[in-house]
Amino acid sequence: MTVPHLAPYDPLDPAHHADPAARLAEARDRCPVSQPRPGVHFLARHDDVRDVLTDPETYSSVDNFALEGAATTADLPAATITQLDPPDHTALRARLRRWFSPAVIRKQEPRVREIVSDVLDAWQPGQKAELHHDLARQVPTRVVYAFLGLPEEDWERLHQWADAIDDILPKMPLDMPEFVALTRYLGEQFATRAAAPATGEGVLDGLAHPADGEPPLTPFEAVIHSFQLIVAATDTTGSLITNLLYELLAHRSHWERLLTDRSLIPAAVEESLRHDAPLQYVLRTVKQEREISGCPVEPGDRLAVSLQSANWDERAWGADAADFSLDRPAGHATTMAFGYGIHTCLGAPLARLQARVVLEHLLERFPELRLAPGYHREPPEGLLLTRRPARLDVVL
Ligand code: HEM
Repeated sequence: MTVPHLAPYDPLDPAHHADPAARLAEARDRCPVSQPRPGVHFLARHDDVRDVLTDPETYSSVDNFALEGAATTADLPAATITQLDPPDHTALRARLRRWFSPAVIRKQEPRVREIVSDVLDAWQPGQKAELHHDLARQVPTRVVYAFLGLPEEDWERLHQWADAIDDILPKMPLDMPEFVALTRYLGEQFATRAAAPATGEGVLDGLAHPADGEPPLTPFEAVIHSFQLIVAATDTTGSLITNLLYELLAHRSHWERLLTDRSLIPAAVEESLRHDAPLQYVLRTVKQEREISGCPVEPGDRLAVSLQSANWDERAWGADAADFSLDRPAGHATTMAFGYGIHTCLGAPLARLQARVVLEHLLERFPELRLAPGYHREPPEGLLLTRRPARLDVVL
């Protein structure tokens, strides 16, 4: 009997995005480099994804995330770090890295705990709640505003702007009122800090006061880099928290194991990142002729590098790669959820910290937490880069 082939996985097809497993499995088995659209190649295997992400000489990040309709690198007044290649990328990453050292991230923990507690203080056991918008997105937005050093009285309006932007990324028109308002606000905050002595508090103050030997940033650059931190940190971390809670509650035996053994929390966070990559793919542009898994690619071709498919690759993770398991051995293969190579996510430790703290607090305060009766998982409409349920209705 011949098994019918599925159409190649197309990252821009909402039906493929809503139910990706069978198509991604077929892509990995039969056609690891497919061409769902002219000039766009889709990479499905873990090792191809890893090799492309570690070769910035051949595969450029310029126009990363810009596939049909999203802003290109040239559209923005300054390039974001995710769209730069060396040597510009190397210099900018070195400038930003100091806020992401293990010591700096450890210092964020008391503030993260305070932010999580503030959100949960409003809730009572037995009450209904929607955890994606009212918890999973609230926490990372507040954490990143605190991290940037933005005044707390502004967080509510910042949250409204960032929420609207997160809902349509990466196809954000540059004249979108929320983008204009947010970037104008960040420009004012940068100017205020640049005109005052350094306080050492928050990333924005650091961008306004470069270290010895670092050239000053233009206001455009400072605004784009702080804007990039906000969008990089919010829906991604919110998706991680929502995906994690969904898996633990949809198969409640996982939740019950965590109730009796809190030492499993870090493994649960790692497994969520592997099982559900919040960012489904990144883009690269081919600079030199190459073959990937035997398929020729040419200069100018775009590569949709599937972090999700890499994370489900049985060749790397074993036959149970599609399952969510709290017992997956550490160090088995490399999770691609945070990317790999020179652009590996700078904020990964901050995202992991938030997911851990949210889980610790929920287990402590709401041990009876469960999915709301009749809850049905739906993908977020229009957000084809993101993997998570659109909402997460629960009883606390
Ligand atoms: C679960 C949450 C997160 C996920 C899944 C995630 C995912 C990613 C991925 C896949 C990349 C690589 C992009 C590429 O190779 O093209 C990346 C880069 C980046 N992320 Fe994250 N991210 C998360 C949270 C954060 C947070 C909390 C921050 C900051 C506070 C952050 C800041 C950055 C920055 C600055 C880069 C650019 C690094 C570079 O280009 O050198 N991310 N992230």
